[in-house]
Amino acid sequence: MIVLKTAEEIELMALASKIVAEAQQVLLKEVKPGITTLWLDTVAEECIRDRGGTPAFKGYRNYPNTLCTSVNEEVVHGIPSGRILKEGDIIGLDLGAIVHGFYGDGAITVPIGPIPQPVATLLRVTEEAMTRGIKQAVVGNRLSDISHAIQTGVESFGFSVVRDFVGHGIGRQLHEEPQVPNYGRPGQGPRLQVGMVLAIEPMVNMGSPHVKVLEDRWTAVTQDGSLSAHFEHTVTIQPSGPPRVLTAL
Ligand code: MF3
Ligand code: CO
Repeated sequence: MIVLKTAEEIELMALASKIVAEAQQVLLKEVKPGITTLWLDTVAEECIRDRGGTPAFKGYRNYPNTLCTSVNEEVVHGIPSGRILKEGDIIGLDLGAIVHGFYGDGAITVPIGPIPQPVATLLRVTEEAMTRGIKQAVVGNRLSDISHAIQTGVESFGFSVVRDFVGHGIGRQLHEEPQVPNYGRPGQGPRLQVGMVLAIEPMVNMGSPHVKVLEDRWTAVTQDGSLSAHFEHTVTIQPSGPPRVLTAL
């Protein structure tokens, strides 16, 4: 069942999502060669708590941290550690916040210093695919119109869309119905309606779409070792026009 949100509930989700967006801005300034992923986690947790939010991931299914830090071939759910970032790495920063029981969820992937042009293209294409998907999140469209727009945006550049993880409805829970795959035929699934809130989050690999989960039971990596990028916004379906992107500043 898809739980529709009232206007008041959406304002709480907007507050949670704004905290996510502000934390991302702070993290962007911290990301540089020589720092550890655990330092970024500390910064993210402080940002969220300073603004009156609660980290959404910490304790979720026993996840240990505030932030997911996914470096290079890590796709999602990388656990912050003493790993030191170096020039040429890319890092996915995924975080969520809770305000008065409502969630916001967002992710960005950023370069550490200069990166080769094909890697910069991977980041740009992934973010643009998310934007293409978001543009389809309008009343009257069907859910898979989002999925299809993302997939075609990615594959036209020769990259691949991860199948094993998907976007999701979000509200009083981090993960609600419906699942939002980043691939599929258009015109399928539920019709989008006012009050739906979706986390749209393509994960894109340079090589094959296949992933595996490491021994830590969280970190997903590409099977072929190719680089991977991830962007995510929490968006609401509006009565008319494009969606409201809650995790944008
Ligand atoms: N943005 C991711 C998601 O929506 C992050 C979840 S990490 C977890 O699934 F630790 F909370 F599981
Ligand atoms: Co999410």
